[in-house]
Amino acid sequence: HQEKTKVKNIQSVELGKHELDTWYYSPYPEPHASCNKLYICEYTLKYFRKKKTLLRHLAKCTLRHPPGDEIYRSPPAPANDPSLVGGAITNPPISMFEVDGKKSKVYCQNLCLLSKLFLDHKTLYYDVDPFLFYVMCEKDTQGWVNAAPGQYFATATPARPAASAAGWAAHGFYHIVGYFSKEKASAEGNNLACILTLPPYQRKGYGRFLIAFSYELSKKEGRVGSPERPLSDLGAVSYRSYWTREILEVLREHKASLSIKDISDKTAIRTDDVVKTLESLSLIKYWKGDHIISVTQKIVEDHCKTIANQKNIEIDLNRLHWTPYR
Ligand code: COA
Ligand code: NA
Repeated sequence: HQEKTKVKNIQSVELGKHELDTWYYSPYPEPHASCNKLYICEYTLKYFRKKKTLLRHLAKCTLRHPPGDEIYRSPPAPANDPSLVGGAITNPPISMFEVDGKKSKVYCQNLCLLSKLFLDHKTLYYDVDPFLFYVMCEKDTQGWVNAAPGQYFATATPARPAASAAGWAAHGFYHIVGYFSKEKASAEGNNLACILTLPPYQRKGYGRFLIAFSYELSKKEGRVGSPERPLSDLGAVSYRSYWTREILEVLREHKASLSIKDISDKTAIRTDDVVKTLESLSLIKYWKGDHIISVTQKIVEDHCKTIANQKNIEIDLNRLHWTPYR
């Protein structure tokens, strides 16, 4: 893990409308590695040393979404959506794209390089073939911010004519906000390798959404899963919060006694993660070599208070179009 000791090289990156201060070293190749700032195309994730070159690229680039299949699109918000403030959408629609590391190698390599800027530990950069990347995007259009409340899939006013007949303009602009990667076949049964929410989008519940999404994919595969270790501090906090909520929800719904295995089956959370979470909540007791899960009314009430303060973006399973990788 030599990378860890390397000094941070790139101080900031411009990505879409954001300028991001980086957190860690990332092995961008030279000469880009010695740049103070990189300019990144938010659709291809290609990186440039000069804004001028990025703009020249964008003038030719026809991609307006990650190079993969859109496997999830959030439901349109109701007309009285509280997230519509004065007609401006503060909680825009979310889409998930599945990108194959083998088919879109350069994109996925660029994604790994970008995400390393926010990850302390060493991660893969170049051998992306064995992975799928689930990229989360916020969608908007030229007409978006001025759209009337409830007017969700508004047609764009294209900045310039679309290059292809299908035309990206009519379909909107998909801005990357985060992602997770997943091995196509994990010997350890991992359902997530790496997870990132880009800093401007953190603490809005997107990390929880990504984690929940990874477990929904596991449920579709009919198996349990667990994230690859080690987890970063932020990763550990996010997983602990997710596991706690899922497990307490299951316990609350099922008044009858449940075993660890039952909880694992319902949530796709691996049994050792279930046990660890229950232990951290002091909900598990050992008696005559057996374990007993004991949930009091008080714990359920406290839990309800906690989740009322959590940012939770529901996944509408009817809008998930995905079959397991073969
Ligand atoms: N300090 C304290 N708690 C934090 C936190 C922070 N900086 N960031 C997130 N959390 C908590 C949230 O409060 C929430 O818990 P709650 O619902 O019980 O309140 C939970 O973690 C998830 O928050 P959420 O907003 O859904 O997560 P996020 O979009 O901020 O993303 C990560 C979480 C881990 C993906 C994000 O921090 C990240 O990308 N970090 C850098 C990369 C990384 O470390 N990845 C994990 C590698 S294992
Ligand atoms: Na989370």
